[in-house]
Amino acid sequence: MRRGAGVPPTVLGGVSPPPQLGRQHYPGLLVETMRQIQSAASETGVIIIGGLPHPATPFAAHSKRGDPMIEERFNAIYGTAPEVVVRAPGRVNLIGEHTDYNDGFVLPAAIDRSIDFAGRKRADRTVRLHSLDFDGSVEFSLDDIQKDGANRWSNYVRGVSKYLEEDGHRLAGADIVFGGNVPREAGLSSSAAVEVGTAAFWKKLLGLELDPVYLVKLSRKAENQFVGVPCGIMDQFISGLGRANHALFLDCRDLQYRHVPLRDDVKIVVCNSGVKRALAQSEYEVRLKQCREAVERIASTGRAVASLRDVKPADLEAARAVLSDVLFRRARHVVTENQRVLEAIKVLESGNLERFGELMNASHVSLRDDYEVSSKELDVLVEVAWKQPGVLGARMTGAGFGGCTVNLVRQEAAEAFAEAIMRGYKEALGLKAEVYICKASQGALSV
Ligand code: GLA
Repeated sequence: MRRGAGVPPTVLGGVSPPPQLGRQHYPGLLVETMRQIQSAASETGVIIIGGLPHPATPFAAHSKRGDPMIEERFNAIYGTAPEVVVRAPGRVNLIGEHTDYNDGFVLPAAIDRSIDFAGRKRADRTVRLHSLDFDGSVEFSLDDIQKDGANRWSNYVRGVSKYLEEDGHRLAGADIVFGGNVPREAGLSSSAAVEVGTAAFWKKLLGLELDPVYLVKLSRKAENQFVGVPCGIMDQFISGLGRANHALFLDCRDLQYRHVPLRDDVKIVVCNSGVKRALAQSEYEVRLKQCREAVERIASTGRAVASLRDVKPADLEAARAVLSDVLFRRARHVVTENQRVLEAIKVLESGNLERFGELMNASHVSLRDDYEVSSKELDVLVEVAWKQPGVLGARMTGAGFGGCTVNLVRQEAAEAFAEAIMRGYKEALGLKAEVYICKASQGALSV
């Protein structure tokens, strides 16, 4: 498999050359991939049902940590072994949706799907970066990091690198390969995984003593200011600080957090609608503005509120007259969702998973009716899920408008659940769902 040893072709003007080691060089890859899917499924408890790996993620099988695939790919491209390898997981949010940018509470878990990085130092200030998922290469100088309009996949890496340099952490040139099996645009935070993976990569490669929360914030800044997507802090936080077999309870105002153990006899099952989140970014920005406007209006009635986090249900009722129907419902979602998260933590810690599931269901209804970020496909997946035996709770997860649902399912019912979801989704909409039974995993910056 070791072809193309030596240096990849130089990239002119930041434009990707023909992939020096594209999939066409690996005629055995598909068979190999299928074999690995089967072995990964049996070894990790991850099952991938309902179709081939995501087309953008040719390495969907390497969900095992410590899989040598990324090292092999590095070796094949650069003709030498990498010095370091890091893995940054995607995430699923159990409850607490659209609360992070309102200074509220969230409860995500890192999943056993990751974006992996392999790399080694160079003697100069050049970064050569190869994306396995996009089959593309770029090259840039650490002395002049610019946004790349043609190879937008590289901007997450560029942004994190730029802000580290700007903060005075002098980086070294490096050859890097990255890629993984977090499906893109599916609401499982593949971009946060790339950002956090980049931060973890530089930390490890250069032995930088940097606080994980600092790196999480810097990764979010790269997404907000360099890439230009106005997300909250949840995704980068959990990709950095997740813990195996735990969810993470985060207060998005002061970034205090604690890990909450998840029980082994209940599975986190993620159902991917296969629908790309077309409206996600524009509608996300609309929601952000609506939340800010609701706060201003509520504050205008004399209440001391800096964000929706500070609004109590009684404040909201009292301020109803100054809010339009839409603003009232947007605010009501956030206010009630924060309450649901706080209760969810308590019942999770006391082992009352039935109540936890009810809170998930209520969260979905609120996202669907008050916040209006669900979609026909997500609603169908959730409604089919609610009817299945062994299901404790089901809701859409992430920003919405497509992407995935998250389901808590008793272990013994999980496989039948997966089949029922795929069948029900196909019957209702003629569409194919993918189902992943996930394990909560370690973050890239966790110590
Ligand atoms: C996206 C954003 C997060 C969060 C969720 C909604 O995933 O990146 O910051 O706002 O949507 O909960």
